[in-house]
Amino acid sequence: MRIAIIGSGYVGLVSGACLAGFGHTVICTDKDADRIARLNAGEMPIYEPGLDEIVAENVGQRRLSFSTDVAGAVRDSEVVFICVGTPARRGDGFADLSHVHECAGEVAGHLNGYKVIVTKSTVPVGTGDAVERIVREAAPGKEFAVVSNPEFLREGAAIEDFRRPDRIVIGTDDARAKEVMELVYRPLYLNRAPFLFTDRRSAEIIKYASNAFLATKITFINEMADLCEAVGANVQDVARGMGLDNRIGGKFLHAGPGYGGSCFPKDTVALIRTGEEHGAPLRIVETVAAVNDRRKRTMARKIANACGGSVRDWTIAILGLTFKPKTDDMREAPSIPIVQGLRDLGANIRAYDPQGARIVRSELPGVELTADPYDCIAGADALVIVTEWDMFRALDLGRVKSLLAKPNFIDLRNIYDPDDVAAAGLSYTSIGR
Ligand SMILES: NC(=O)c1ccc[n+]([C@@H]2O[C@H](COP(=O)([O-])OP(=O)(O)OC[C@H]3O[C@@H](n4cnc5c(N)ncnc54)[C@H](O)[C@@H]3O)[C@@H](O)[C@H]2O)c1
Repeated sequence: MRIAIIGSGYVGLVSGACLAGFGHTVICTDKDADRIARLNAGEMPIYEPGLDEIVAENVGQRRLSFSTDVAGAVRDSEVVFICVGTPARRGDGFADLSHVHECAGEVAGHLNGYKVIVTKSTVPVGTGDAVERIVREAAPGKEFAVVSNPEFLREGAAIEDFRRPDRIVIGTDDARAKEVMELVYRPLYLNRAPFLFTDRRSAEIIKYASNAFLATKITFINEMADLCEAVGANVQDVARGMGLDNRIGGKFLHAGPGYGGSCFPKDTVALIRTGEEHGAPLRIVETVAAVNDRRKRTMARKIANACGGSVRDWTIAILGLTFKPKTDDMREAPSIPIVQGLRDLGANIRAYDPQGARIVRSELPGVELTADPYDCIAGADALVIVTEWDMFRALDLGRVKSLLAKPNFIDLRNIYDPDDVAAAGLSYTSIGR
């Protein structure tokens, strides 16, 4: 099939490259000319493990190309995937659909034959109807279908997730569009990946409900961690004890500094607004969002308490800034309020992140960045692990002890055994243990 992708970010680029890998001819477009120029020069605009290889391979096979010419790509394609951002709208937190609506208008202007318009961006229920209306009004009489096909990939494991998804959700009542979507995902269909065909509105809700549920699970165990700290229990054992129950499952039961990222924070708030708008308040999700926000803001205080109460004029070494490992994404990362909070308490921040550095400069101006974790630690008054990159799991604790000016080790991801850290002569604080 000939496929156009509008929006070549984490979702669009991974989807485009993987769909090309399925054998389709894919044009990835973006209105950001710099992004397209870099892609055409063989350079990845984002960090996602394995993406560069799959892009290079499919460009080499002439199945994948990049362009700023959205109109041309639409004309040349049978299927158009909308993969643009849907950030939180300033003021009320509802999903900002301006980019999605802009795409609908753009596609409408170039409908030269039946096309399936697929919303892969995370969009509130009813957006598919709005896209259909926009296209129909701008291109009356033209043949098309609007399908919801939400994306569930995780940054850091995006290619594996796209190729071996837990499920593929396709929301449409249009039989012809359903057939087209089956062809798009044919290799996954043959591999017996679970497909769920449903109506468009249900598909739109599935995405938000899934993210809200996962955010709830994280927030639940975070509150349990606070209780464990208060009563002298171990949240990791509690999580394991809970997770061994198949009805609960062990995933997303890792206590930490609160969830961040480009999806959970904005999607929970957008879902809350949708509930309000339709007179169906979502009290659980409201509480989750509020508890998580508060948690991220109180982490700086927790760190200061672990350091004896005051960090004024201290140098604090932070390892890991991205919202999770194996990505360069800093959106809503817990590190941002942590750094700000520690600065408000009078501390100077030095940080190391394997990938975040490029973006950190704009998100966290003034933070001193080092090229190596040990350079970051040298002479600091405390070490804080904020993001659990693999390389931080096996630090040489003896070296850490000798490099730190004061032996404070704060591990917000529980990646160390407290006994090991204590044996190295460090004072160790983790979450819920
Ligand atoms: N990042 C994730 O892990 C993830 C996972 C699942 C779903 N999603 C959802 O997918 C959508 C995209 O997320 P992302 O992280 O890939 O965003 P992103 O910000 O990385 O990429 C979006 C891209 O769209 C481009 N764009 C915006 N308007 C455009 C237009 N009119 N024409 C052409 N290009 C345009 C931007 O320049 C940008 O490059 C969002 O709705 C998000 O919620 C994201």
